[in-house]
Amino acid sequence: MKNYNIAIDGPAGAGKSTIAKKIAEQLKFIYVDTGAMYRAMGLFVISKEIAATDERSIAAACNEVTISLNYQEGVQQVLLNGDNVTGLIRSEEAGMMASAVAKINEVRKKMVQLQKKIASSSNVIMDGRDIGTVVLPKADLKIYLTAGSKERALRRFKELQEKGIDCNMNDIEQDIINRDNQDMQREISPLKKAEDAVLLDTSNLTVDEVVKEILSLFKAKI
Ligand code: C5P
Repeated sequence: MKNYNIAIDGPAGAGKSTIAKKIAEQLKFIYVDTGAMYRAMGLFVISKEIAATDERSIAAACNEVTISLNYQEGVQQVLLNGDNVTGLIRSEEAGMMASAVAKINEVRKKMVQLQKKIASSSNVIMDGRDIGTVVLPKADLKIYLTAGSKERALRRFKELQEKGIDCNMNDIEQDIINRDNQDMQREISPLKKAEDAVLLDTSNLTVDEVVKEILSLFKAKI
């Protein structure tokens, strides 16, 4: 039986995971958050006190790391060497380190292999930076989701405030811009829109509007 694959790529804070989760729920697909895997690798590097610039040690650390995903009541859990690190990977520090480790070929090879394997055996909606271009080049539908950096920073700010985390709007916007630059300018699998991806700018759209649009694009494809 054919598995359906939807790929969503885009910069930090564009709403990929919120949207992808809702679509997964409606279509009964598995939602795969690939950023969580790079974040788990980032966490490992932080725990070993390896510098973000020490590419050789990060590449070597790949041999010490097993990352796997499982699902508890439909919610993705990330296991790092068997430990559930889902609750630990959301900090800005882990995000920045994820972006640093994501530049390294050995790290990407390991993650992409696992992502392809998951998609080959299930209907998935997968989000990340290289899903439409590298991981699932034959996805049934590819979306490139974006929004202005101010709007994305504001969303992240509200999200953190709701969680009671003290934060500063300008710092958040600067982090987002730095991370996007790093992701777009890296040599291997940079963040870019796949030629056949549909570009959706969510700056002035509600979550429900975006979900509806993607569902109708998907239905038109199958
Ligand atoms: O999506 P999220 O912000 O959690 O991703 C964290 C970092 O992981 C990104 O900034 C990016 O550097 C990296 N990443 C990647 N390829 C993916 C998913 C995430 O390089 N498919």
